[in-house]
Amino acid sequence: MKPIQVGLLGIGVVGSGTFNVLQRNQEEIKRRAGRGIDITMVADLNVARAQALVGPGVTVVSDARAVIANPDIDIVIELIGGYGIAKTLVLEAIAAGKHVVTANKALLAVHGTEIFAAASAKGVMVAFEAAVAGGIPIIKALREGLTANRIQWIAGIINGTTNFILSEMRDKGLDFAVVLKEAQRLGYAEADPTFDIEGVDAAHKVTLMSAIAFGVPVQFDKAYIEGITKLGAADIKYAEQLGYRIKLLGITKRRQGDATKRQTDGIELRVHPCLIPAKRLIANVEGAMNAVVVQGDAVGTTLYYGKGAGSEPTASAVIADLVDITRLHTADAAHRVPHLAFQPNAMSKLPMLPMSEVVTSYYLRLRVADETGVLAKVTGILAEAGISIDAMLQREADEVGGEGSTQTDLIILTHDCMEARMNAAIALMQALPSVLEPITRIRKEELA
Ligand code: HSE
Repeated sequence: MKPIQVGLLGIGVVGSGTFNVLQRNQEEIKRRAGRGIDITMVADLNVARAQALVGPGVTVVSDARAVIANPDIDIVIELIGGYGIAKTLVLEAIAAGKHVVTANKALLAVHGTEIFAAASAKGVMVAFEAAVAGGIPIIKALREGLTANRIQWIAGIINGTTNFILSEMRDKGLDFAVVLKEAQRLGYAEADPTFDIEGVDAAHKVTLMSAIAFGVPVQFDKAYIEGITKLGAADIKYAEQLGYRIKLLGITKRRQGDATKRQTDGIELRVHPCLIPAKRLIANVEGAMNAVVVQGDAVGTTLYYGKGAGSEPTASAVIADLVDITRLHTADAAHRVPHLAFQPNAMSKLPMLPMSEVVTSYYLRLRVADETGVLAKVTGILAEAGISIDAMLQREADEVGGEGSTQTDLIILTHDCMEARMNAAIALMQALPSVLEPITRIRKEELA
């Protein structure tokens, strides 16, 4: 059988990795897919550079629409990124009856509902393994491998840049800003790292995982997002002393309502720094690596680990999608794996819960005047709010602020409570004259 023909939009780091791996492993891939897979056309603004990368046998154009218009092309790979022209081209490719493979998490997290509906109406597939956690086949695991399960929660380190920064902060005892500069100098962090360090990239990815895990539409606008920019070396050190590591986690959980606690059914969708017990495997994922923990009712806890970015790891995911489409494109559309794992007419209407309704435990750091009664006042406020203390740590003032210091840090770990309740308690503690700086609050998950 003739090879299936693929058009590539954008040949940067991932595109060139995809081209190279397809060439290098073509025999192996053909044995798996049942026929060859050839990138026969590439669109890139830098035509000369693209042509040099792919050689004379591949047609290179500057106009992506020429690829979409080519009737010989069955699959279009979109590696342009962003929500702008990439969205237009993906919708045009679908309208032209092409299957689409994309690594564009931002596009699908924000416009997935429109894109998947257009693809279903046209009977084509939109595959996006590379959009979440790079080379880790987490979409495949959630959509197919874990299909027997009622998934309960997912927690993932799904941004390598921030995990690298946090690892460096812990190893070297440095603050965020210092490590970020170094990471940029070494090329680990982008010149504009906003999406990474503010948690937006992780939120795009956890939005996609949430939709697939619970069969709900993608709802990036409902995600709570907090990045790592306010984390200090001191918090990483105190967490360590209490047996925890701090990681930026993307978390999504199914919550069973409980009328007695005035809790409704819903789904949590959040990205924020998080204390996790140092003994958990995921707590030991260091550097730019990614890892995702999935808890299903039948399988229990499962962990997926690997490279979340980079040329060939991401190409590995793109090509897995190409193989899937090659195997399935002649199948009746109704018998393919649904885009979001659940049949489109069986999607759930479970609401995304606002952050104020999330129930979790907390790490609090209060910089206080080292004077009589401060601890009693602080613990009194927590007791009054019905928030139970799990552990406490207070160092001698000299150790915290240098010899003769009259200030110290009060570190408190709490048991679970609703975020709204914690917000109110923090406001009351903050108003105490002996609390000298803004209180640091970091959420804590046991991931048990
Ligand atoms: N910038 C991302 C990261 C990789 O640092 O993990 C692409 O999603």
